[in-house]
Amino acid sequence: MTILPIIEAPDPRLRVISEPVAVVDDGLRALMDDMLATMYDAPGIGLAAIQVGVAKRVLVIDLQRRGEPAAEGEEPVEVREPRYFVNPEIVWESDEVGAYNEGCLSVPELFGDVVRPLRVRAKWLDYDGAPHEEELDGLLATCLQHEMDHLKGILFFDHLSKLKRDMIVKKLTKAKRGKLAA
Ligand code: NI
Repeated sequence: MTILPIIEAPDPRLRVISEPVAVVDDGLRALMDDMLATMYDAPGIGLAAIQVGVAKRVLVIDLQRRGEPAAEGEEPVEVREPRYFVNPEIVWESDEVGAYNEGCLSVPELFGDVVRPLRVRAKWLDYDGAPHEEELDGLLATCLQHEMDHLKGILFFDHLSKLKRDMIVKKLTKAKRGKLAA
């Protein structure tokens, strides 16, 4: 498995529309393995293929719950539960919405409250190409919608007010300039 470089805003590649996957094969599984390793390394809870420069409708998500410590006084065990979404589609969303303070591996160290439907019903193919349809809620529903935005070239700050969006874009542009100068 390879840890891939994550593209950061305002890189124009993040605005590219991703293409549907024709077949879930070993090549795609290798990409999903690399994406997961990259996401864990970052660390983050979700990553879309376009964030590593691949314009395919592929996402990985792992909310990485913290389980009970194995013994008293020990660190809680991190419970890994990787999920793979190929060609995800939202077929229903709740009218009920909620705000979550979102961040993004492509928008480092900046956060904003994004309002989204609290529950969604989604269809996708998994790691083996098997179809799934499930109703999702909580952080998983939020994260899936955030990652699916990446497939359409949308970043979380696009959902914010113009004032907040301009502030983030300004900070990102400054950070980029700083990097080029260094
Ligand atoms: Ni993101």
